[in-house]
Formats: sequence, structure tokens, C-alpha cells
Amino acid sequence: MSKAASFHSLKEKPVLITGGASGIGKAMVEAFARQGSKTAFLDLDGEAGEKLAADLREETGSMVVFARCDLTDIEALRESIAELAKETGAFEALINNAANDTRHDWRDVTPEYWDDRVAVNLRHFFFAIQAVAPGMIEAGGGSIVNLGSVSWMLAQGGMPCYTSSKSAVQGMTRSFARDLGPHGIRVNTLVPGWVMTERQLALWVDEAGERQMDEQMCLKGRVQPEDIANAALFFAADESSMCSAQSLIVDGGWV
Ligand SMILES: NC(=O)c1ccc[n+]([C@@H]2O[C@H](COP(=O)([O-])OP(=O)(O)OC[C@H]3O[C@@H](n4cnc5c(N)ncnc54)[C@H](O)[C@@H]3O)[C@@H](O)[C@H]2O)c1
Repeated sequence: MSKAASFHSLKEKPVLITGGASGIGKAMVEAFARQGSKTAFLDLDGEAGEKLAADLREETGSMVVFARCDLTDIEALRESIAELAKETGAFEALINNAANDTRHDWRDVTPEYWDDRVAVNLRHFFFAIQAVAPGMIEAGGGSIVNLGSVSWMLAQGGMPCYTSSKSAVQGMTRSFARDLGPHGIRVNTLVPGWVMTERQLALWVDEAGERQMDEQMCLKGRVQPEDIANAALFFAADESSMCSAQSLIVDGGWV
């Protein structure tokens, strides 16, 4: 049975999710579509995105629209957001989710690789906010959720460009919360712990990792993509109407 709460305010709400074709983003697309939101999402993976959108339209009857887009291309990002908004109406919630945690040794990082990692993990968050904020201002409010990470809080090494970007997300949230707050726009960071996505299970979750989770997390069990999606529903819904400039950590009690 689904653990998702039902938020009436999400029904028909135009919501945009980046990186929605797999992992946590996919769980969010599913969760918003099941709330009856007008759900739009972007991803590099065109095939998976088209299939997810079609499956969810059939399952939920909600408007679910997808555009293939490389978020490191800011002009493409702007155009895709404008195209999707023609179908859904101006976005009232934005979930900045897409990122890539490929490991890298600090010794090997070139200026080009640094720029590339920041473009994948941070830059598009800013430009997506810049693209949707005018519509939210016109509507008198909105909610923006930026995906952070516990990795830098835990002083995790092995991917300094990723962890630097993820810690910067927190600063971006608080800065935009101040600038957009007078327009009724809330901006928060949603901070996942180690979430059992397909990619994590395929690449990084090994025996040592399982042991680490058993030892470090207060709660038994594992954080699933749906646990993060549920928190995103809350932040996007009117029920969190006085929450802004905050971080919510969903990590089973690790940090
Ligand atoms: N999974 C975890 O354990 C974990 C932990 C902490 C934080 N997070 C954060 O949660 C968010 C989602 O992570 P995830 O684990 O679901 O990732 P994932 O790799 O499973 O999925 C990311 C999605 O984003 C898309 N994407 C990546 N680069 C893109 C680009 N340039 N343009 C368009 N789409 C692109 C991918 O195609 C993919 O569908 C990220 O912000 C990540 O940093 C995840």
C-alpha cells in the first residue's frame, strides 16, 4: 500500500521536476502524478522519460508531460521549460533534482572537469529557478525544492566537485528564499541520505556500505526513493505554507 499522504492542494497544480526519468526523480514524478498534479519533467534519457509519462497518463489520468533536455545546456533548459509550461500552465512548484555523483579523484580534476561537474550538479538549479520565478511572482506564490545531499555533511571524500556543488545548493536555497519570499515563493532544500535507487544499488552499495548503514542509521531499513518523494509532496503542497529557507534531512537518522 502507498505510504503517500494525499494533499488536496496538489491537485491540478503545475509542477516541474528535473531529472525525472529514473531514481528519486522518477519516484517524484509518480508521486505528483498520483496526486493529480499537472506533472512535467525533464531528463537526458528520452526513451525512459517518454515511457514513464505514457505509463503514468494511463495509470492516473493526470496530465504528465516530458521533454528530453540536457540540463547543462541552459538555452535548451529555458526552451524546454517554456514549452512544457504551455501545456501545464505556469509552474507553481519546481523540484530541482537532477545531478550526477560519479566519483573522481581530486588529483585528476581539470578546470574543464570542474566546470562540467558544476554544470551537472549546480548551475541548472539556478537557471531553472530563474526561468520559473516570474510565473510564480505573477501567480502570487510558489514552492521551490532543491535536492541537497548528506555526503558533504558526513565529510565524504572521493567526489569533491559533487560535494562542493551539493553544499552550494544549501546557500542557493537560503539566498533565493530571501529574494523570492516577498513574492510568496518558498524555497527549501530536501536532503536525501543514502537512497536505494537503481544507480546506487548497481554502482556503490556493497557489503561494506550495507554494514555502514546498519551501524550509522538510527532506524533499521533503507531509505527508498518514495521516502524522498513524500517529503517533496509536503514542500510543494500548501500544507507547508510557512516553511522556507529550511533543510529537511531524510536519511533514517544518520547525520
Ligand atoms: N541516491 C542517493 O543516495 C542520493 C543521496 C543524496 C542526494 N541525492 C540527490 O538526489 C537527486 C537525485 O539523485 P538520484 O540518486 O535519483 O540520481 P539518479 O542518477 O538515479 O537519477 C538522476 C536523473 O537525472 C538525469 N540527469 C542527469 N544529468 C542530467 C542532465 N545533464 N540533463 C538532464 N537530465 C540529467 C538522469 O538521466 C537520471 O534520470 C540528486 O540531486 C542527488 O544529488 C541522491
